[in-house]
Amino acid sequence: MPGFELFGPEERKHINDVMETGILMRYGFDGPRKGVWKSKELEAAICARLGCGYAQLTSSGTSALSTALACLGIGAGDEVIMPTFTFVASFESVLSVGAIPVLTDVDDTLTLAPDAVRRAITPRTKCIMPVHMCGAMADLDALMPICKEHNLILLEDACQSFGASYKGRALGTIGHAGTFSFDFVKTITCGEGGAVITNDKDLYIKCDGYTDHGHDHAGVDRGADTHPFIGYNYRISELHAAIGLAQIGKLDQFLAIQKKNHAALKAILSTVPEIAFRRIPDAEGDTHTFLSWFLPTEEITRAVVAELRQQNILAGNFYWFDNNWHYFRRWDHLRQAATLNNLNEDQRKTLLALRPESFPASDTVLSRAVSTAIGLAWTEAQTAEKGEKIVAAVKKVLAREKAAV
Ligand SMILES: Cc1ncc(COP(=O)(O)O)c(C=O)c1O
Repeated sequence: MPGFELFGPEERKHINDVMETGILMRYGFDGPRKGVWKSKELEAAICARLGCGYAQLTSSGTSALSTALACLGIGAGDEVIMPTFTFVASFESVLSVGAIPVLTDVDDTLTLAPDAVRRAITPRTKCIMPVHMCGAMADLDALMPICKEHNLILLEDACQSFGASYKGRALGTIGHAGTFSFDFVKTITCGEGGAVITNDKDLYIKCDGYTDHGHDHAGVDRGADTHPFIGYNYRISELHAAIGLAQIGKLDQFLAIQKKNHAALKAILSTVPEIAFRRIPDAEGDTHTFLSWFLPTEEITRAVVAELRQQNILAGNFYWFDNNWHYFRRWDHLRQAATLNNLNEDQRKTLLALRPESFPASDTVLSRAVSTAIGLAWTEAQTAEKGEKIVAAVKKVLAREKAAV
């Protein structure tokens, strides 16, 4: 997820434009800003690139999710179905609006398993929140009919998948709303930042106000704005938007490089029959930020990860099963409802009920999965070397296993 790898004069130019006005705030200051509106420009560029009606920039992907949930009317007493494999921000945002995260199994797409989603629906379910993990999509053809049948909101957490698509439509534009992160490691970065996108004008107007203390932005005098509802400060700054504006101009270049490096790496790993790959519901729409691959058993996968670590080449290869931030198994703080202030009673009860819960179907997938992050700056030779070293490590472990039988 490496937009930062190709920073250049474009980022500097847009930052300098802002510095020359001295106006870092995205709203107001109409005179002194001398026509420099980086946030508005980036929102327009996002709409044009993704083919959606409206984009609201935020301070982060996490605040984009909280904004989308609140503006979609999701709050106390509502259940949100979300996957066991995602970044912690997905459940943090659900908790932040007073709602209840309902953790649900993933399958070999590394995203929500549609049959598990069906089983998780209760009369309190209000929203299904698939997470398009590691640059590629959830099985939306399976999830959309479930939402329709049960009259549920579809909120796409596409924070890791800016630029991905599903059957020709950009991820994030297919549900009622979609969210993105532009943090420091994403495909395109603002340093910190995020966005909510939607085709629903009313929802967009709510997002615009919610992210700025409820301001209606009706006039040029902020002090005279009215506040139709309570909001928060989830604004992006002009400096962050300036970086994002430079980066979105290079998105297609980034995606093309990732596709090439991903294909080269996959070709090398494909020479090992025991390696299988993540199922991608529409391979054409993958951003190729990661190559995710599976080994036959947890034991073999652990041994390969240990081998990569021992050879000092584990960096860039993620074994999510043991990661403290991306998989349910290590979310002890969630299971213990370890918040610093009181949760509402509904939330506390649900979280504490998670303690004994396990997700064997997700474990079977994640315990055998490794995701290799694809670099933008890799040369052909470096890509080949990385692939060959991984293959050598896998073969070494497989040979050892065979000898032990
Ligand atoms: C799936 C997912 N959702 C939400 C977020 C939150 O984004 P941010 O780091 O911009 O708050 C992330 C960040 O990595 C993410 O991966």
